[in-house]
Amino acid sequence: MIWKLMPFSALFLGFVSSTSSAATSSPPTTSSHEGPCRIYNFGLSADCSGRQLTFVPWRTFPITLKSIDLSYNRLQAISAADFQNLPQLRRLLLQYNNISHIDDDAFKNNLLLETLNIFNNSLHEIPASPLTSLLNLTELYMSNNLYRNATLANSFSRLVRLKVLSMGGPLVMGLRKNDFHPIKNIQLEGFAIKCSSNLSYYEKGSLEVIQTKNMGFDMAIDQRPKALEDMLHDLGNKTFRVIQFRNLFEFTYYNLKDDIFQNLKEIRADQLIFHRGKFNENLLRMALLNLQVTLIKRLRLQYIDFARSPTFVDSGAGSSITNLKLDNLDLWYISNPDVLRFDWRFTWLKKIKKLSIQHVYFNSVPCDSWTEMDGVELLDVSNNRLNNDFLYNKQCNYRNTMPNLHIFNLSTNDLTSLGYISSLTKEFRKLEVLDLSNNKLGSTEQTVNCVWTQNITRFIAHHNQLTSKAFPCLPITVNYLDLSNCNLDQLDNTYFKRATNLKTLWLSGNKIKFIPSKWESPSLQFLAMDGNSFGLISKASFQHMPQLSELKAGNNPYHCTCELHTFVQDTIAKGKINLTDWPWNYICYHPEPFLNTSISKYFPGEVACDIRLVIIICVATTATVVLIFVLICYIFNLPWYTKATYQIIRAKYRAYKENQAGEIVNFNYHAFISYSHSDADWVRDQLLPVLENNKNPYRLCIHERDFMPGRWIIDNIIENIESSRKVIFVLSRHFVNSEWCNYELYFAQQRAMGKTFSDVILVVKEPIDPNSLPNKYCKLKKMLSTKTYLEWPQQVNQQPFFWAQLRSVLGKPTMTREGTNSIRSRTSSGRIAVIGPLAEERMPDAAIPDEGNIEEIQNVCIHRNDIELEDRIHIEAN
Ligand SMILES: *[C@@H]1O[C@H](CO)[C@@H](O)[C@H](O)[C@H]1NC(C)=O
Ligand SMILES: *[C@@H]1O[C@H](CO)[C@@H](O)[C@H](O)[C@H]1NC(C)=O
Ligand SMILES: *[C@@H]1O[C@H](CO)[C@@H](O)[C@H](O)[C@H]1NC(C)=O
Ligand SMILES: *[C@@H]1O[C@H](CO)[C@@H](O)[C@H](O)[C@H]1NC(C)=O
Ligand SMILES: *[C@@H]1O[C@H](CO)[C@@H](O)[C@H](O)[C@H]1NC(C)=O
Ligand SMILES: *[C@@H]1O[C@H](CO)[C@@H](O)[C@H](O)[C@H]1NC(C)=O
Ligand SMILES: *[C@@H]1O[C@H](CO)[C@@H](O)[C@H](O)[C@H]1NC(C)=O
Ligand SMILES: *[C@@H]1O[C@H](CO)[C@@H](O)[C@H](O)[C@H]1NC(C)=O
Ligand SMILES: *[C@@H]1O[C@H](CO)[C@@H](O)[C@H](O)[C@H]1NC(C)=O
Ligand SMILES: *[C@@H]1O[C@H](CO)[C@@H](O)[C@H](O)[C@H]1NC(C)=O
Repeated sequence: MIWKLMPFSALFLGFVSSTSSAATSSPPTTSSHEGPCRIYNFGLSADCSGRQLTFVPWRTFPITLKSIDLSYNRLQAISAADFQNLPQLRRLLLQYNNISHIDDDAFKNNLLLETLNIFNNSLHEIPASPLTSLLNLTELYMSNNLYRNATLANSFSRLVRLKVLSMGGPLVMGLRKNDFHPIKNIQLEGFAIKCSSNLSYYEKGSLEVIQTKNMGFDMAIDQRPKALEDMLHDLGNKTFRVIQFRNLFEFTYYNLKDDIFQNLKEIRADQLIFHRGKFNENLLRMALLNLQVTLIKRLRLQYIDFARSPTFVDSGAGSSITNLKLDNLDLWYISNPDVLRFDWRFTWLKKIKKLSIQHVYFNSVPCDSWTEMDGVELLDVSNNRLNNDFLYNKQCNYRNTMPNLHIFNLSTNDLTSLGYISSLTKEFRKLEVLDLSNNKLGSTEQTVNCVWTQNITRFIAHHNQLTSKAFPCLPITVNYLDLSNCNLDQLDNTYFKRATNLKTLWLSGNKIKFIPSKWESPSLQFLAMDGNSFGLISKASFQHMPQLSELKAGNNPYHCTCELHTFVQDTIAKGKINLTDWPWNYICYHPEPFLNTSISKYFPGEVACDIRLVIIICVATTATVVLIFVLICYIFNLPWYTKATYQIIRAKYRAYKENQAGEIVNFNYHAFISYSHSDADWVRDQLLPVLENNKNPYRLCIHERDFMPGRWIIDNIIENIESSRKVIFVLSRHFVNSEWCNYELYFAQQRAMGKTFSDVILVVKEPIDPNSLPNKYCKLKKMLSTKTYLEWPQQVNQQPFFWAQLRSVLGKPTMTREGTNSIRSRTSSGRIAVIGPLAEERMPDAAIPDEGNIEEIQNVCIHRNDIELEDRIHIEAN
């Protein structure tokens, strides 16, 4: 129905119902600016509103136009040409112009016109002729013009499709019996009539013929209060949805005794509205007394200027309204809160089911008011600036009050304390819904113990200043809890654990910084957490809410991480939880490169996010690497290389250690020379002179000369090798054949192993083919094959190079510390070894070999086959 969608007062303001305005309500799709008007909606609509037009710019109108808005201009006349090219026109808005003339054939080509609005113009006559042909007209707004009477021409009887008609104006002084006769057969949805605020006459029966669902009067009866009786009588025996009186008394309060509302009894209407105007107690009582016996179920007083009647005599209960049975009583925007304490009692509220008192700004609720409102099921006192003390009075006894109250709306007041509200309402047995939105709850809250009635199921407290401290004071019986826009920064797990019935929870627009990990809510089905301050959300966040099926969590400063991605993917995939504001409301906030990107476009990649995948990949990679490594080892004999490298490193380390220790370890000799007796001549004649007889002599140890007489020869060998920096082996075939020399070789090699290999110097006096050596000389063979050796050249001119080489291998002779050397010397009787004093000079004669000793050593060297350590060989002096 057209009427249902139209606010009633629109009739008086000339607004056009939205059903026929499909053209304007749809978004402009294409628009052009040729001419003063905006043509949009594919050339179907033109918007020319408020453009100071003095004439209709008809040349710029496309022929296709169905809707034209020319309101709020300065048009003075409508001529035949203005709309003649628009055969499709359905809707023409001309309100708020200064039109005083409309050509008779102005609309002759607009036969499809359905809506015509000429509200608030300067027409001096009802434009009957131009409208005659508009048989499809359903809405005609033509009030607020300068007609002097509201007489409809007979042609109006043809407008059988008419549903909405508004007429009249400030100059209409009254209504005559036959004014509306032409439309007596037309079934209207809405009819509104405006008359002068100084109504001068009303002929009985004028309104009788009107058939409408909704009736609006805009006429002041200050001058003729009696007219109301006749008007109400004319409305009798008909059924209305709404009857509205606007400005019934515009200038004066009615103080007469005559009951002008007596004919209200005959009225059958769903709702009666008094809008604006002056009402005193007297007039209101008249109305209410008559209302008590009508079928009218709803009464609304709005924008009323209320005053007490000083003449009223309170004659006890008899003068009171005690039987006003209404489904709805709305007291809105009433200038004087005394209206509530109507005739000093609240008895008139006793049988009201839904009582709504808004914008009345009362500042106390006396104790007796609560006891009177027995029948009230819904009490709406929103928008009243109530504070705790106005509302709750400790002196009142609230026991058994408000026994039927279901819904208590305290929205938009100045309440600060949940504790007060709970004290007030805990006795309201049936209270189920409590709306405390748009207050200041929590702003001055001290921790109090709140006791709520057990029946509260909906608790609405959005737009307050509640903090997490308020949770202990919230009722736990609720299944609906709205704490949106409350400054909450934390949640209280204990509350949600206890509130086992909670099914719907609104937490939008708070400052919640994180989702608590153990958030349990066994029955929760709907959760709104959009517009908070948390950045992290994960699958685990809502795992303790088994019933959750709808989640609204957008508009948070999300950290775009794998966790979030997984959460979203998982939630969407499972389909158990519906993300109601996905994806438009989900935007990355962190990290910076993703700032402002939609989370639906954030793809961190499967691999990065799936921890199992990461583990599998890690394990696989490691296994492969190990396998390849093992293979390489196998193919390239790596262990051998490793061992070799290890030995090299170890040798280097040892050399380094030795270098460090070199300062401390003392060597008596630069070199120990090992040779067989057949090479003794070469040693004595060539080697010793070159190395010893020069400016920087090397000190060398040879057994002929330097072995300690009287000591076991093995000890001598060991000790002298130990106290020599290097060991020089003079290799020849004889050397190889000498077991004893091999022994020396053994020790030298042992030492070389313990120290550095470079301590062993091989001098090959005669070329030896290592392969020709017998196997038992494997050590020598190995040394020859792994160590570079010095070859004694046969050519004389090459020999100096050999010596240079040898010297460089030996190092500088100064490297042993001369002063600290202990030098063994033999005394003339010389039977025992003496470790000489440090300062003692080395005696050159001590180097003279003793023939007998040498013989013996040579014997040992040549003839021994086995080394028997028990064999004690003594070197005897002389
Ligand atoms: C309306 O039109 C009349 C002439 O028809 C003119 O006298 C009057 O000033 C106009 N009013 C306004 C507000 O323009
Ligand atoms: C009135 O409108 C209907 C469609 O709503 C149309 O069929 C009919 O022809 C119109 N009447 C006239 C007189 O144009
Ligand atoms: C039209 O509206 C203007 C402004 O609202 C008002 O001043 C004027 O009196 C109205 N005209 C009529 C005829 O009601
Ligand atoms: C109503 O006013 C019109 C002109 O505005 C006039 O012609 C007509 O006679 C008037 N009717 C009555 C009954 O006064
Ligand atoms: C109302 O109209 C009457 C004549 O019908 C006149 O005497 C009176 O002054 C008018 N009052 C106002 C407030 O216009
Ligand atoms: C309404 O009906 C009653 C009787 O049913 C009758 O007495 C009264 O005159 C009627 N009123 C109107 C305005 O027709
Ligand atoms: C309470 O009143 C406010 C404002 O009048 C309204 O928006 C809200 O819907 C009402 N609450 C309930 C539960 O009806
Ligand atoms: C809740 O309301 C029911 C009736 O709706 C009533 O029987 C019951 O006693 C109330 N519970 C309490 C605790 O008042
Ligand atoms: C999710 O909720 C939205 C809004 O309530 C609704 O439009 C949509 O159809 C729902 N989707 C599913 C899969 O239930
Ligand atoms: C984020 O995007 C919105 C619209 O998509 C834009 O208005 C805003 O300036 C952007 N902010 C930044 C920081 O880029």
